[in-house]
Amino acid sequence: MSPPARRPPGPSVRQGTIASHCNKLAPCGQVGCATDFFVGGTFGSGFYDQQRVGVIKSGAMSTASTRPQLQIRPAHEDDAASMCELFNEAVQDHLETFDSDPRAVDDQRLLIAAAEQDPKHPILVADVRNWIAGWVVLAPYDTRIALDDIGEVFIYVRRTFRSYGVGRQLMRAIQEAAGKLGYRKLIGRILVENRDGLLLCRATGWREVGRHSAHARLNDGLHDVMMVEYLIPSSPVPHS
Ligand SMILES: CC(C)(COP(=O)(O)OP(=O)(O)OC[C@H]1O[C@@H](n2cnc3c(N)ncnc32)[C@H](O)[C@@H]1OP(=O)(O)O)[C@@H](O)C(=O)NCCC(=O)NCCS
Repeated sequence: MSPPARRPPGPSVRQGTIASHCNKLAPCGQVGCATDFFVGGTFGSGFYDQQRVGVIKSGAMSTASTRPQLQIRPAHEDDAASMCELFNEAVQDHLETFDSDPRAVDDQRLLIAAAEQDPKHPILVADVRNWIAGWVVLAPYDTRIALDDIGEVFIYVRRTFRSYGVGRQLMRAIQEAAGKLGYRKLIGRILVENRDGLLLCRATGWREVGRHSAHARLNDGLHDVMMVEYLIPSSPVPHS
């Protein structure tokens, strides 16, 4: 399948409308337009907001039978190149908290292989017709016994798919998986300038714990990092 046409990252799309985005790229409903995938609201609940639904209803519609579905599934080796591409987009956009340098596909492949051997630390991808729209990993946070039921989340959505609810769905999926795996808490560390990352966390039940000053050393200098946490609701936290 050929990649959907590129559009600018989320914020500029949110400031406009999906229709104006479509008109610039390709007619709605035509494969090759990223918005094609969202017709019918198959994606996150954010899709249903008034502005977006109003815009989409006026365009050419997919039918329920042709409507593509977002599938969230474990990553496999064949996903490495796409996942790497998404990760490297975040690096280029200066949104990746701990890396200034692009990742190599072989390194991504090793990370997938490690996750396949380690059910406690899954990697999930958002797959639309074999096109990877996003991915999320539940990584180890700290192996000390008092902290080993806490996981760290890293999440990436392809530029052309940002702000359509893919991140929200991936986040929900990893939160649910973490609950089933017996985690009691998730943590995240987000550059304070990463507005969309912080908004996604707010929208999915995370709490901002506090700000580390001059914390992440990236190629362009030191950056403040916001520590965020999500308490898994189903697991009661015993207090001593
Ligand atoms: C952060 C990121 C994963 C969000 O994914 P996304 O698919 O664009 O997010 P969603 O569309 O699901 O948005 C979820 C919520 O976040 C907020 N949000 C996300 N992007 C937003 C934007 N551009 N403007 C306003 N709100 C936004 C909204 O509250 C939204 O809820 P809504 O849809 O009900 O309005 C994505 O921007 C990304 O991949 N960024 C680069 C990598 C990164 O920063 N990862 C996080 C640190 S590891």
